[in-house]
Parts: sequence; C-alpha cells; structure tokens
Amino acid sequence: MTFANLSWEVAEGVATVTVNRPKQLNALDAATLGELGTAIELCRSRPEEVLALVITGAGEKAFVAGADIAAMSKLGPAEAREFAALGHRTMSALEALPIVTVAAVNGFALGGGCELMLACDLAYASEKARFGQPEVNLGLVPGFGGTQRLTRRVGPMRAKELILTGDMIDAATARAVGLVLEVLPPEKLLEHARAKARVIASRGPQAVALSKKLIQHGADLPLPQALDFERNAFAGLFGGAEAKEGMAAFLEKRPAKFPGR
Ligand code: CAA
Repeated sequence: MTFANLSWEVAEGVATVTVNRPKQLNALDAATLGELGTAIELCRSRPEEVLALVITGAGEKAFVAGADIAAMSKLGPAEAREFAALGHRTMSALEALPIVTVAAVNGFALGGGCELMLACDLAYASEKARFGQPEVNLGLVPGFGGTQRLTRRVGPMRAKELILTGDMIDAATARAVGLVLEVLPPEKLLEHARAKARVIASRGPQAVALSKKLIQHGADLPLPQALDFERNAFAGLFGGAEAKEGMAAFLEKRPAKFPGR
C-alpha cells in the first residue's frame, strides 16, 4: 500500500505506520488524517495479515508536532468543526481497533501528536521525545480529544497543568506522570515497540480484543454495569475455540495454537 504522507510496512504480523512529513515535523493536515484513517481501516480489514499496529514519525526530530498550523490558520469555524470531527473520527477508529496499537514516540509529540499517542493502547518514548498540548499558545484548545483522553490518562490536575500552561515535558517526566510506559535510547525504541506488539499479537486474539473493549468501555460505565460486561465477556469466551485451545494447551504443557494465528 502506498500513501503520500505515511509509510506502511508489515513484518511478522506487525504493521508500522510512519507519519512522513518531516519538513513539517509530521504535522497532521486533513489529507494525512484521511490517510491515517485508510491505514486504520486496512488494519481492521486484514486480520490474518495485521496482528498489531505500531505508529511512529519520520525523521530524527518529531513523532507528530501537532495539527498542521499553516492549514488550520485558513479555517473558519464551520471548517474547524469539520477538521476536529475528522480528527475525532480518526482517533476513535484507532482506539476501536481490535488489535493492539503501540505509539513509538521518537521526538516531539505535541497537540494532535500527543492526542494520536493517547489514542494508542501503549506508548513508549525515546529519550529525545518531548510532549505537550501547546494549543493555548495559539489561542486554541486541543481538538483531537486531548482534553478528554489526556485527563483520563494522567488525571484532571496534571492534564490542566499541561493544557493550561502549554509547556512541554521531557520523556522522563512523561514516564513519571504515566503518559508513556518506558523511555528508551532512540535506536532501541522502534524494535522495543514492535517486540511488545509481537508478544500481544501471539496471545488469544479474541481475548486481547475483548480485554481492550472491557478496559476502554468499562471506564465510562458505573462499576456494577462494567462488571456485568466483564462477566458476560468471560462467559462468552467459554463457547469458543480460542479459550478451549488456550486452556487445553496449558494442561497439555504445550504452546497454544490459537485459531487465526
Ligand atoms: N504545523 C505546521 N508546521 C509545523 C508544525 C505544525 N504543528 N510544527 C512545526 N512545523 C514546521 C515549522 O513551521 C517549520 O517549517 P519551516 O521550516 O517551513 O519554517 C518546520 O516544521 C520546523 O519547525 P521549527 O523550525 O519550528 O523547528 P524547531 O526545532 O525550532 O521547533 C517545535 C520545534 C518546538 C516542535 C516547533 O516547531 C513548534 O512549536 N511547533 C508547533 C507545535 C504546536 O503548537 N503544536 C500544536 C498544534 S495545534 C493542534 O495540534 C490542535 C489540535 O489539537 C488538533
């Protein structure tokens, strides 16, 4: 598959999408968001080939430095609403993928770039990464989900500090506040992200997809309803071949061979 502003490769079941506009520090314009949507749909429609997704940025400097400010500066309110809706659709589609999604944050993850990372299941950072929601410096608020996903990730007070100051934080601070899981030397980042993706891709695919759903949707439900949801999911798996194989493999002391893997 070829894209104008992304690169796409699949190896050992892991797709890597690299946002590739290095001259603009990989900033997201509508065309790039559209291509991201297409890449996400490719992942969804090829479950045999794509078992996990890693997202990173091209070049030495940036993961994604935000929404494209040059393009945004020309928008009126109605077009800005459409642009935010496109960003929301893209991030929500990414979040809803049944496979694991991993952000390999290799440089600036600002504004829409931080929001792209927040829509991934897991995030790892290079020592050079910098994070922030600098929209207030532009007289804007985050528009691709940052006010909500950042708050859910780090809590309201930390989210307010980041969003209201617009200041950047370094990778060690991002790890300390729970924005990323680990900080790695730049040359180790991508392989680390892919290795985690491969581990998860080797697990029961239905169990992985359901676990994601339970965690994501459960967080927005009252606890008794969330526990109902978990109980039903748990019980439902007992009717299927995946759980039968997983438990049989354990008892027979052999690796599981899950259907579809
Ligand atoms: N949009 C468009 N172009 C961008 C960009 C962006 N978000 N970020 C960087 N660029 C461009 C610069 O304009 C510059 O282009 P030229 O060479 O043509 O001048 C090029 O990338 C390199 O950038 P700098 O020269 O500024 O590089 P630097 O190392 O001095 O600074 C930086 C790096 C701190 C990331 C700085 O570029 C910066 O602050 N960028 C903007 C970050 C930002 O505000 N992001 C939030 C955008 S709003 C948003 O995302 C809203 C939303 O939630 C949807």
